[in-house]
Amino acid sequence: MAMAARARCSRQPNSHRLLAVVVLAAILLLPVASAAAAVVAAVAEGDGVENRSAARQWATGKDEGELVSGEESRGGGSVVEDEFAGGFGSLDSMLQWAIGNSDPDKLKEQAEGVQKLSADELLKRRMEIKELMEKLKMPSDADLMKIAIADLNNSSISLEDRQRALQELLILVEPIDNANDLDKLGGLVAVIQDLNNANEEIRTTSAWVLGKASQNNALVQNQILGYGALARLVKMGYATSAEEATKALYAISALVRDNINGQEAFHSENGSAMLQHILASNSVDVRLQKKAVFLVTDLADFQLNSGNSGLPFLSDRIFLKSLVDMLSRFDLDLQEKVLLAIKSLLKLSSTEATDFESCDLSSVLYRLGVQLEELPSEEQKEYAGEVDDLRREVQILFQDKLKEGTKTAL
Ligand SMILES: *[C@@H]1O[C@H](CO)[C@@H](O)[C@H](O)[C@H]1NC(C)=O
Ligand SMILES: *[C@@H]1O[C@H](CO)[C@@H](O)[C@H](O)[C@H]1NC(C)=O
Ligand SMILES: *[C@@H]1O[C@H](CO)[C@@H](O)[C@H](O)[C@H]1NC(C)=O
Ligand SMILES: *[C@@H]1O[C@H](CO)[C@@H](O)[C@H](O)[C@H]1NC(C)=O
Repeated sequence: MAMAARARCSRQPNSHRLLAVVVLAAILLLPVASAAAAVVAAVAEGDGVENRSAARQWATGKDEGELVSGEESRGGGSVVEDEFAGGFGSLDSMLQWAIGNSDPDKLKEQAEGVQKLSADELLKRRMEIKELMEKLKMPSDADLMKIAIADLNNSSISLEDRQRALQELLILVEPIDNANDLDKLGGLVAVIQDLNNANEEIRTTSAWVLGKASQNNALVQNQILGYGALARLVKMGYATSAEEATKALYAISALVRDNINGQEAFHSENGSAMLQHILASNSVDVRLQKKAVFLVTDLADFQLNSGNSGLPFLSDRIFLKSLVDMLSRFDLDLQEKVLLAIKSLLKLSSTEATDFESCDLSSVLYRLGVQLEELPSEEQKEYAGEVDDLRREVQILFQDKLKEGTKTAL
């Protein structure tokens, strides 16, 4: 029973929160019988997976007759109190109670019983219920994280439950305080282990959780890097599943963003070869390629702003050629992202104008200009115009860099 309740609790943290509010409102505002009906309606609506006959098995075992007679003989209130005192320690057990006591005929009987109470008795009972509800504790985010982590740490759990535990963590780690707690609770180790799971979906969601937890969070970035997870993520970047590679790249981007340690690890794990593979391969999903281009821009901008030049691949000629070649693809969005990347790369002192020249950047930009003028459909005209402005900017930067290069060469 405890396991079942924990599992349920871990499964639907958000709908449980919503339910708690409904339950609270229902019980405070209505006589108990109709409150129970409201709870059942809420369960049926909010928690669609619930199965009443299954839920009944979790009920406390007391039947309605017992409850009603207890109520009457003790003048009201005490039954509910007994139930609470006897272990309504969680929202789950309260729901079990509500569901277990929700037979419509019995509810009607109960409602009639409630109506027999005097206004004073009713008020008194509501006050008692209110007090009890205040004592009733909702599981905290930390509790929910512990449950999900314990599930991940249990090797005999089903794949479905493992996936669900990861998806809960995905939501739970969004607030920075929760992300900061993840490692203390053993969560990072558990999630990183699942990067090696035989199941693709599990690996994918694990990478997603790591990316979400480390986004704009230097503490978590460094914790994950400290566990050496980047090596595995770089390997996942080569995955044939676009979804898996995309989430791996998402996590990598989160880990290296504004983080020298992350960028050093990326370099030593040969992350540039993975990026090169994504950019240059025709079989790779274009959305993944766009993300890779975006990462390049991000890394170049960081290098530009920090003066740190720990990523030699950014000025590697073969790498630059892969980028320049992408400008010949007929995809405005991709072309725009690539132009942004080249613009940032041209500004780096570590890149050579002659390397761009040997990639034929001049004629590629010229052909792109022609294409942007002639090809776009009516609805793409405006966007094509913006991309063309960017193209001109890149062209000017390139010409300036070529002149600079000539000057230093003289
Ligand atoms: C509901 O639970 C009962 C008993 O546990 C089971 O026989 C039935 O198949 C379940 N229905 C659904 C829709 O899960
Ligand atoms: C691990 O999961 C299995 C299957 O759900 C369960 O029976 C078992 O009690 C769990 N073990 C722990 C330590 O929670
Ligand atoms: C995971 O399980 C192992 C034993 O199987 C235990 O030593 C460890 O503390 C558990 N970690 C967490 C986070 O529950
Ligand atoms: C990086 O990966 C490329 C392509 O797989 C490989 O040729 C190269 O040797 C690797 N370099 C290192 C330092 O591992």
